[in-house]
Amino acid sequence: MSRLRKNPLAQKELAIYPFVFDWKLVKDNLELDKIFNNNNDFYLEIGMGKGDFIIEHALLSPPKNFLGIEKFQTVQLIAAKKITNLIPNLDNLKLVSADVSDFLPEIKNNLIAGIYLNFSDPWPKIRHAKRRLMDLSFLTQYNRILKSGGFIEFKTDQLSLFEFALEQINLSKQFNLVKIDYDLHQKQAQEIIKTEYEKKFLADNIKINFLKIEKI
Ligand SMILES: C[S@@+](CC[C@H](N)C(=O)[O-])C[C@H]1O[C@@H](n2cnc3c(N)ncnc32)[C@H](O)[C@@H]1O
Repeated sequence: MSRLRKNPLAQKELAIYPFVFDWKLVKDNLELDKIFNNNNDFYLEIGMGKGDFIIEHALLSPPKNFLGIEKFQTVQLIAAKKITNLIPNLDNLKLVSADVSDFLPEIKNNLIAGIYLNFSDPWPKIRHAKRRLMDLSFLTQYNRILKSGGFIEFKTDQLSLFEFALEQINLSKQFNLVKIDYDLHQKQAQEIIKTEYEKKFLADNIKINFLKIEKI
């Protein structure tokens, strides 16, 4: 998949969008639980990329609130432009520019109803395993910020990453596995909200692995 060239002006350009928050600049003053001005449920997508998945969720599911986290501002800028073109009323969708490792420790306990991790970077080398977003250390933080009964949905084309995720979930003992599918689109492609990567993998007939876990 082609790499997007880094746009050195992305940070400046993102600053004009009122629904985008640069975590390094706002974290000391922003109360995340008040960001939506309502008490409706709150969902995170971590590594939202160019935003197709979270935008479609937000459009289909008000009054639920959606927060997209992305570390590359060049990519997030594409999402911000799409949102501005598609959704006149942005009440239930906001974006945060952050590496999730900086973001998670600042989040209150029991705040989030669900977390989506779609096609997270695989970090195939063993020495980089701790960076995988389904590593036990991340699962422990997700568990802390999830509400009782809150869920994580994880999709990947990488079978070895999927098996790693299952192993880590097992080790964590903090979640129930409620759904697992080694070929998500085999029967039900129509109803599934797809990400940019997912659309490309489907076009190339690559199988998508999916799991859903719930906080115990
Ligand atoms: C392979 S892309 C998938 C993008 C999108 N979810 C999709 O399925 O089309 C992974 C995305 O996660 C972002 N990402 C990876 N690690 C991250 C981290 N630690 N914090 C925030 N975003 C991260 C990357 O910048 C990239 O945009």
